[in-house]
Amino acid sequence: MEARLGVPRVLLTTSCTHALEMAALLLDVQSGDDVIVPSFTFVSTANAFVLRGARPIFIDIHPDTLNLDETQLERLITARTRAIVPVHYAGVGCAMDAIMAMAARHEIVVVEDNAHGLFGRYRGRWLGTFGALATQSFHETKNITCGEGGALLINDERFVERAEILREKGTNRGRFFRGQVDKYSWVDVGSSYLPSDMLAAFLLAQLEACDRIQAYRKAIWERYHAELGEWATGNGVRLPSVPPDCDQAYHMFYLLLPSLAARQALIAHLKERGILAVFHYLPLHLSPMGQAFGGKPGDCPVTEQVSDRILRLPFFNDLSIGEQTEVIAAVCQFAT
Ligand SMILES: Cc1ncc(COP(=O)(O)O)c(C=O)c1O
Repeated sequence: MEARLGVPRVLLTTSCTHALEMAALLLDVQSGDDVIVPSFTFVSTANAFVLRGARPIFIDIHPDTLNLDETQLERLITARTRAIVPVHYAGVGCAMDAIMAMAARHEIVVVEDNAHGLFGRYRGRWLGTFGALATQSFHETKNITCGEGGALLINDERFVERAEILREKGTNRGRFFRGQVDKYSWVDVGSSYLPSDMLAAFLLAQLEACDRIQAYRKAIWERYHAELGEWATGNGVRLPSVPPDCDQAYHMFYLLLPSLAARQALIAHLKERGILAVFHYLPLHLSPMGQAFGGKPGDCPVTEQVSDRILRLPFFNDLSIGEQTEVIAAVCQFAT
């Protein structure tokens, strides 16, 4: 990953959640700090920073890419803001030029939650190489997987040495292994964020096959897009939108149905035909924890709407052509 992405240091971790926790520790995030996160994301994007005492500030998303709306950053940034955590939703890059410029202007760190975006690019540059830190997931649902796993991408080399220590229970064992010290000891806070060799070996095989995996996922995505276009137009359904400056990572294919009722009816229709289609991301600002931080209906209107209307179609590395044909046929039999 270091060679392929050109990242100075990549540390494997036990999950993306743990890589995000390491990022929060590395930034010394603490009570009194704010961290800007999209409301439309997995809980770990926010929770890793909340665990250190930060307050999450929820930002809404663009209705087309479902990525955070960078035009709202200025309004949300205050003297308390420590970090912005963009999520490259579905592996389509956020507007990183604008986000990085805004962060630099206010001296705020950017941590990319790149759980969906490995091997995606924004304006030709790999996702995960913009922020001082970025995090990957190798959870079973991801393009490249070892069941449970993750990585911390360290683009700002100032964080390398401490990251090694945090991952090794607060010890300088890494230096000991490299023969730089004659014994290792407890030198900082830390935890155990190291994956096992066996999972790393499994992951290596996946990474070695990444070109084939990505090419196959691209073919699945393009077929869904081509064969569902007419049905979508006729039924008021929106298909994913990929801006021209993004080479996406082909992580997901979703539909945006016209209403919650239509989404639920399509789920039931597919279920009757033996097809499991799922949705995700209940708005974080409306979750019990989000509300405890002051979140209320109307704070992120696009997130609230999208969360009711989104549906993900089956999309995995060994989805066969025949299975995809069945899914497409079943979707096309449905009228909103
Ligand atoms: C955007 C995002 N961030 C973080 C995570 C957490 O990843 P992990 O399960 O590897 O901890 C996920 C999981 O799906 C995710 O979708």
